[in-house]
Amino acid sequence: MRPLRSWRRRNRHIILGLFALCLAVARCLQSQGVSLTIPQPNINATVAQDILLSVEYSCHGIPTIEWKYTSYWGMQKIVEWQPGTQANVSQSHKDRVCTYDNGSIQLFRVGVRDTGYYTVTVTEGLGSSQFGIIVLHVSEILYEDLHFVAVVLAFLGAVATVLISLMWVCNKCSYKFQRKRRHKLKESTTEEIELQNIDC
Ligand SMILES: *[C@@H]1O[C@H](CO)[C@@H](O)[C@H](O)[C@H]1NC(C)=O
Ligand SMILES: *[C@@H]1O[C@H](CO)[C@@H](O)[C@H](O)[C@H]1NC(C)=O
Ligand SMILES: *[C@@H]1O[C@H](CO)[C@@H](O)[C@H](O)[C@H]1NC(C)=O
Repeated sequence: MRPLRSWRRRNRHIILGLFALCLAVARCLQSQGVSLTIPQPNINATVAQDILLSVEYSCHGIPTIEWKYTSYWGMQKIVEWQPGTQANVSQSHKDRVCTYDNGSIQLFRVGVRDTGYYTVTVTEGLGSSQFGIIVLHVSEILYEDLHFVAVVLAFLGAVATVLISLMWVCNKCSYKFQRKRRHKLKESTTEEIELQNIDC
């Protein structure tokens, strides 16, 4: 009896130490369970572009990835999925979004109304999670772009020149044609008159 009790007493601190170590490792694993990197947290786009909201996560198990969209009009869910399974896409983004295994999503043909905050949350089974935000700004195609305006003006000028020369050529042609016809008419009437003269 005595030797066992003394053994326990002697090793109690070792057992406690091991227990504490296990707890610390578990907590450490849990807090570092998910990591998320977002290479480009600010994206400027123009209307009708396809935009990749690029992220990359790392964790031990299979996580659940969820994307939400926040704008002036409120927040709505876009998509939720686990890598390797079918994604659950919300009605508002049906056929407009595609998911990648690294957690990224692509939005097809964005419009000005897609401007807003996109929040991605990666949740691991244990309950640890990480979230990140990408700000997307979608603008109209810039018509005040002087280069664009200059090109359009040059094009319109060229078209106008071609049209004016065409009209001039047509005018000339029709004038000539009319003169010929008048000439012919005159000839035919004189012929008729001559014929009439002969008839008489
Ligand atoms: C996006 O546009 C804003 C101004 O509208 C500018 O401050 C910002 O640097 C731009 N970001 C990128 C990634 O081009
Ligand atoms: C995520 O995957 C997509 C498609 O394979 C890739 O284009 C993108 O660069 C990846 N994102 C990161 C941050 O690696
Ligand atoms: C997809 O999401 C909707 C709404 O969040 C939910 O009601 C539905 O059960 C989900 N479907 C699947 C297959 O997870």
